Amino acid sequence: MYIASVSPLGDRMVSDTTRRLGEGQWASTGGAHRPGFGIVALVLLLAIRISPIAQVSTAISATAPLSNEASVQTPNIFDPTSTPAFAIRDVSWFVLGICAVIFVVVAGLLIYSVIRFRHRPGEDRDEPPQVYGSNQIELAWTVVPVLIVFILFLATARYIFGIEGLQPTPNALQVTVVGHQWWWEIRYPDLGIVTANELHVPVSDQEEVTPTFLTLQSADVIHSFWVPQLAGKMDVIPNKTNRVWIDPRTPGLYVGQCAEFCGVQHAGMLLRVIVHPKGEFAAWAVAQKALAVDDLTVRGGRGLFESTACISCHTVRGTPANGIFGPDLTHLMSRATLGAGVASNTPENLRAWINHPDTLKPGVLMPAMQLSRADLDQIVTYLLTLR
Ligand code: CUA
Repeated sequence: MYIASVSPLGDRMVSDTTRRLGEGQWASTGGAHRPGFGIVALVLLLAIRISPIAQVSTAISATAPLSNEASVQTPNIFDPTSTPAFAIRDVSWFVLGICAVIFVVVAGLLIYSVIRFRHRPGEDRDEPPQVYGSNQIELAWTVVPVLIVFILFLATARYIFGIEGLQPTPNALQVTVVGHQWWWEIRYPDLGIVTANELHVPVSDQEEVTPTFLTLQSADVIHSFWVPQLAGKMDVIPNKTNRVWIDPRTPGLYVGQCAEFCGVQHAGMLLRVIVHPKGEFAAWAVAQKALAVDDLTVRGGRGLFESTACISCHTVRGTPANGIFGPDLTHLMSRATLGAGVASNTPENLRAWINHPDTLKPGVLMPAMQLSRADLDQIVTYLLTLR
């Protein structure tokens, strides 16, 4: 009996009808304060304030000044340039459209009721007749939302299967992206290229469709690959291979970021995708495939580099350095940023980075090597030749 007396809302409503509240009690429950206006204001405020897309855009565009390129674009999901991203924009507008209609209907009824049925001076404060149980109303508010959810589900599922069902074309570029705490390893198995934090791909335009298929793997924890203008988020999971594909229509720079909390530097795990015009991509690939420059004038620095523990984590192809724990440095200076986007790749920043990586990226797994000032200078001078 206890449960029956507290659980159904209707129980109270029925008892209220039989036992009218006194005038003073009714007023003290807030009836005279027109709570409806507060609710409408709150809903409007939330609708304006909680705009996750706007917040993500601001967060990522805050990293834009790190780049020296003028073509930095805001990673806005409503400004797609690749088929999966176009699909996500379309389904987003569809969902937002339906939600907007629901919002207008609910808010409209609410505002109408608050104004039309407000308390007017001189009216008695009796409750209106209480209604309990209406099959029509209950059916309406059950069936209509179920139908809406079903439509949203079908539309979303259609897009998801459409995107995931695509098989690689023979001319597709294959790239393996490995998530690390806290950087991206980028491997082109067919081209023999290994780089980091910058994914270079050819444009896929009307002339020739050249999609890029990405195989996603993790070296440690769960990360998430996300370049909003190119494709949806895809988790990067240890011991599991996931795939995404992109076919960027317009050359340019597209910024992305790890989208799954993966440790203290999760926010410092940025990614740049450079979409090249066709010929330019081939030239980039040729340059990246080459062994490291062997500049005779920096032999001292190279010797020092190879005699420190640097080489147990980093590879410089064409030298004894063949570590794989950290980013491949063979063409370090061809990249625009250091530490997966935390600083631009300038000589001063490179020096500061090697001297004490933790200053630029607190929590980074690369240790400070405690180098003397002279050794640091020599190693930096050597690394600056790795173009
Ligand atoms: Cu990797 Cu968050």
